[in-house]
Amino acid sequence: MYETCSGQPHLAFSGNASYNDCAMKILTTIDHLSQHAGQQVALTGWLYNSRSSGKIAFLIVRDGTGQCQCIVEKSSVAEEVFERAKSLTQEASVRVEGLVREEPRAPGGYEIHAVNVQPIAPSVDYPITPKPHGIDFLMRNRHLHLRSKRPWALMRIRHTIIDAVRRFFDSRGFILIDTPILTPSAGEGASTLFEVDYFGEPVYLAQTGQLYLESAAMAHRKVYCFGPTFRAEKSKTRRHLTEFWMVEPEVAFITLDELMGLAEDFVSSIVEAVLSDRQEELKTLERDIAPLESLKRPFARLSYSQAVDILRGPIAQDFLKGEMERLQTRINEMQGNITKMEADLAGARKPAQQDMLARQIQEVRDELGDVQEQLQHIPEHMEIVRNFRWGDDLGGADETVISRTHDRPVFVHHYPREAKAFYMKVESEDQGKTVRNFDLLAPEGYGEIIGGSMREDDLETLVSRIKEMGMDPEHYAWYLDLRKYGSVPHGGFGLGIERTVAWICGLKHIRETIPFPRLLGKVYP
Ligand code: 4AD
Ligand code: MG
Repeated sequence: MYETCSGQPHLAFSGNASYNDCAMKILTTIDHLSQHAGQQVALTGWLYNSRSSGKIAFLIVRDGTGQCQCIVEKSSVAEEVFERAKSLTQEASVRVEGLVREEPRAPGGYEIHAVNVQPIAPSVDYPITPKPHGIDFLMRNRHLHLRSKRPWALMRIRHTIIDAVRRFFDSRGFILIDTPILTPSAGEGASTLFEVDYFGEPVYLAQTGQLYLESAAMAHRKVYCFGPTFRAEKSKTRRHLTEFWMVEPEVAFITLDELMGLAEDFVSSIVEAVLSDRQEELKTLERDIAPLESLKRPFARLSYSQAVDILRGPIAQDFLKGEMERLQTRINEMQGNITKMEADLAGARKPAQQDMLARQIQEVRDELGDVQEQLQHIPEHMEIVRNFRWGDDLGGADETVISRTHDRPVFVHHYPREAKAFYMKVESEDQGKTVRNFDLLAPEGYGEIIGGSMREDDLETLVSRIKEMGMDPEHYAWYLDLRKYGSVPHGGFGLGIERTVAWICGLKHIRETIPFPRLLGKVYP
């Protein structure tokens, strides 16, 4: 609801323009300005940034749909309007009225020549200034940080990814099934369970919807679930959240090959949607989109044993040597930058400039620390991969080697059974040494974004697998029922939304991919 000049509330537009009765200004939003070139409009939003002189004020207004430069000239507005415009502070809410003009140099291609500026509510000492801030500070102020350009662009890309996910499965006849979040037993490894007191009984936050989804696949054939999932991950890595969103399809009467084909089409459709709808946002993030544009099908398919051969062989050693050189060059560059900025700081007079340089130096130092740490670990990693033992799970660093030595996403299938979950279908063709599963590794070193498998559909094998893992088959009685009443081959996979956002946006860390990240030791705000 907006207040009109006469004080009568009237319902605002949604997307399309509406007329405000007092001034006959078209109330619109920044994303629709192109439809109003040459017209008088009104915008409502927040002041993002501004600068002014004695004669002219430039207000960058954001309204949620975009940013627009509003020009207020002293000579063409009332004295008090100019004064009000000049005294607006960052993030004050505001209504601006004026003429829309095409301006190819302006962000968005249009600007407004203001005739009126009305403050709505003040904003005093907004903490996130236009200067650079450290990531910890920004994350502590995440509730405000979401308004800044970078998270704004990221959340829009995340939206498009989620939208593409739904469209993909809906258009292929999958039925959406919502699976429970409070669950009586583990879906994945017991070591990452969050326990909740459920009226005196211990229950757990869902690690996956899969087991429930399998029962729905027996009812609807092709189903998917999409919801928050939880893992009490005790590791601080750039790939792990404790709360993340996962989309999981599950299909009855499918084969492992067909499942990988489905995952390939699925991931390609997500990338296509982002490239088609979010070019501006990708630019804001300075994402090099060439690797996304050249995403080639078919994706590579390697067995786990082939991946192990790569890790143990010369390809991995050469790659890691190259990495050492690359990181060393980067370190030299950053050290040079720090020396230069320190010299600038010594000569800086204005406190604002000193502040900014100090922050920038801190940022580069933080990154330098990260890169030095990465470099330090490489010799050790060279040794580890050379002696990689068949049977171990691939770690994040191993995945990086596999993914960086291919120019496309890589499926790694048939992992050793002892490295994987109890529900995965044991491979009959190699005496049960491996399971019929796959991980999909995203390119550019991003590593696993999908984990999937055929499910064990034989009752006896499943019971013995549950026991093998030290769990009680009693706790899975209902799940075992699915193998008693018309068991069929079936399988599915789970794609982590945040890992996908991190890859598509080219981010170094997963914390920026979700509005309010939950990490080890971090749950504020
Ligand atoms: O490989 P995961 O553990 O597989 C499952 O949960 C299966 N039940 C899925 C299925 O077959 N229906 O997890 C699937 C994906 C990973 O590939 C990764 O993208 C994401 O979920 N993921 C995480 N993302 C962020 N933080 C974490 N701690 C994650 N753990 C898994
Ligand atoms: Mg996995």
